[in-house]
Amino acid sequence: MSIVQTIRNRRSVYDFNPESLTNETVAAILECAVWAPNHKSTEPWRFLVVNGNTKKKLADVYRKIQVGKTKSDDPAVLEIASRKGYEKLVSKPTIIGITCLKSDDAFRAREDYASVSCAIHNITLAAWEQGIGMQWSTSALTTHPEATNILKVDTAKEEIVGFLYAGYPAEVPDQTRIPASKLTTWFE
Ligand SMILES: Cc1cc2nc3c(=O)[nH]c(=O)nc-3n(C[C@H](O)[C@H](O)[C@H](O)COP(=O)(O)O)c2cc1C
Repeated sequence: MSIVQTIRNRRSVYDFNPESLTNETVAAILECAVWAPNHKSTEPWRFLVVNGNTKKKLADVYRKIQVGKTKSDDPAVLEIASRKGYEKLVSKPTIIGITCLKSDDAFRAREDYASVSCAIHNITLAAWEQGIGMQWSTSALTTHPEATNILKVDTAKEEIVGFLYAGYPAEVPDQTRIPASKLTTWFE
């Protein structure tokens, strides 16, 4: 697949086959992340690869988040939210957290966040090229104290920019875009 095909065909994937990604596969993909552009060579990214029991612990936190978002106090409704929350997370074959080192300098922090976003997209493109789908999630799990504690994220020093849910796609959704030609102003 050419880089143009990879960019244009990549889709966010929400449903995965149960097969996990090997550590070798994930490690090779993450080596593409660190080649993202980063101003002043800050290399502000860190990666958290979550499988097995740690994924179950995160799913328990996600369960609580989903129950907390439920408006009803009907125990049956809360039970469904709890179960669905847990099952959603454990159904993701591998979860990759990407963090950004914090900076006291607001401009540097903004640039570093941009670099980490580039790194995340490098990951999704490198994965897509080998048939692996991902979905970027910015759910409340990224800031929940129990989640950051489980993942040993020192929130004074770094923040979780997102989680990538990753695996081999069971289904690839369709998407549409407004063509760039409709969004472009050309100057001479
Ligand atoms: C910064 C960022 C955060 C996202 N967070 C979520 C999320 O929390 N939940 C979700 O379902 N999708 C999330 N997405 C995926 C977008 O919904 C998805 O990229 C969009 O629907 C376009 O689909 P495509 O990636 O297949 O082109 C996020 C994407 C980005 C770039």
